[in-house]
Amino acid sequence: MAVQQDDLFKKIVSHCKEYGFIYPSSEIYDGLSAVYDYGPNGVELKNNIKTYWWKSMVQMHDHIVGLDAAIFMHPKTWKASGHVDAFNDPLIDNKDSKKRYRADVLIEDAIEKIMAKADKEVEKAKIKFADQFDENLYRSTNARVVEYINKAKTFQDRLAQAMTANDMEALRSIIVDLEVVCPDSGSRNWTEVRQFNLMFNTQLGNIAGEEGKLYLRPETAQGIFVNFLNVSKTTRQKIPFGIAQIGKAFRNEIVARQFIFRMREFEQMEMQYFVKPGTELEAYEYWKSSRMKWHQALGTPASKLKFHNHENLAHYANAAVDIQFEFPFGFKELEGIHSRTDFDLKAHQELSGKKLQYFDPEQNQNYIPYVVETSIGCDRMFLAMLSNAYTEENIPDAEGTDATRIVLKLHPCLAPVKCAVLPLVKNKPELVEKARKVYDELKFSFQCSYDDKDAIGRRYRRQDAVGTPYCVTIDFDSLTDDTVTVRDRDSLLQERVHISTLSQIIQQKIDWKQLF
Ligand code: GAP
Repeated sequence: MAVQQDDLFKKIVSHCKEYGFIYPSSEIYDGLSAVYDYGPNGVELKNNIKTYWWKSMVQMHDHIVGLDAAIFMHPKTWKASGHVDAFNDPLIDNKDSKKRYRADVLIEDAIEKIMAKADKEVEKAKIKFADQFDENLYRSTNARVVEYINKAKTFQDRLAQAMTANDMEALRSIIVDLEVVCPDSGSRNWTEVRQFNLMFNTQLGNIAGEEGKLYLRPETAQGIFVNFLNVSKTTRQKIPFGIAQIGKAFRNEIVARQFIFRMREFEQMEMQYFVKPGTELEAYEYWKSSRMKWHQALGTPASKLKFHNHENLAHYANAAVDIQFEFPFGFKELEGIHSRTDFDLKAHQELSGKKLQYFDPEQNQNYIPYVVETSIGCDRMFLAMLSNAYTEENIPDAEGTDATRIVLKLHPCLAPVKCAVLPLVKNKPELVEKARKVYDELKFSFQCSYDDKDAIGRRYRRQDAVGTPYCVTIDFDSLTDDTVTVRDRDSLLQERVHISTLSQIIQQKIDWKQLF
């Protein structure tokens, strides 16, 4: 059953709450905007995503090692990295509603509306001309459509120029020229546009004033850069080698929307790959293709993933690409692969006065390595996996009471619970005892759940809804021949197997090896 994309997003959000994946933070106090908590199923799924990333990066590469740096870092770190001076978004307030917006997002939304008008004209013509319709020809010749497209393009160019030049006045005049109204008050009573730094800050207990100002890290990468010397010395890694890290990052996002897509507290999985200068683009191509394969190994269709090259490169990058995923609200950035040159190590070397160089024994020379980074948001990956997995099917349950099956078709390796153990009925003590025994044995191998409430069909539905790949049912035959049924979440086929083989059968299906 096809689910409309805008409906799909709403359904995923409420499904997350109902089935213990994600709750709004401090909900009893009405929540905290753009901050979320992961519930019992959410934490399992998130841990599995992290495990998959860690295994494929660290365990599978003998030249990539792990790190867990602190969230707090010396404030000079953020001066060197450029975050104090340049980690800004352009902000504008509406004087009537007192609401705050990102100026570039307001402009992008207005441009999208112009493009939507062009698309609407095309859709109307498609119906009118039916089989004879040539969409490309119509888009390039119909006066009204051409006018919309040109208008959108002009504003897109102005936006790109204003952003590159950090020209706040130019951004404001685009908002005025586009006649953008406040989504809340409907008014055009705007303040000036000004830069807003996205870093959260706090204060050290024993030092007053600016000296004691600390930042919550906005990316995990800097913890890797400042440990480059420590790690290279203690692990004796030879270039090329990588350092990988998973950890929290914090950004005071002005526009926080789309659920866990853009949060103020989130988790990143980042790897910095240190290479000899001049070889960085080769490494960049390798990681581009390696990261795309990582996504596809989970069964995500190729049509839902694409590369998006950065048109305006940051001043320190000589190549950058996003892997975009088709979220219910369109193709958006899921991961970034950036060739960051020697910008970060050089900046830390200059500000700290410590040499951050590598001695290359083959070349018999010291140099500051170049860096290729892969950076993915764990929460965005979580949302991508849920969006891809959420499925509604017209399949009545065993009792015939529920006609729609909602199933999360997550890859078994990612599923929060691998196996549910279910006694056919709960009012037969011998069945319950047997089922408990099976559960107590299986739980040593993987995450299991035990459920004896409600009719069996409803219990299967509950497991489908959280993506449990296998349900083991203990019935009356189990008492005499020690066999059980294993129900496959996707095919719905039930196979009768001996209890002694259960762990091995399921283990095989959830083996990480199949992903590498
Ligand atoms: N070290 C490079 C870096 O931080 P980025 O493109 O700013 O690059 C990397 O972030 C990834 O972190 C993004 O591709 C996205 O998956 C995730 N991310 C960034 N901001 C986020 C936010 N506010 N909420 C959730 N995830 C975010």
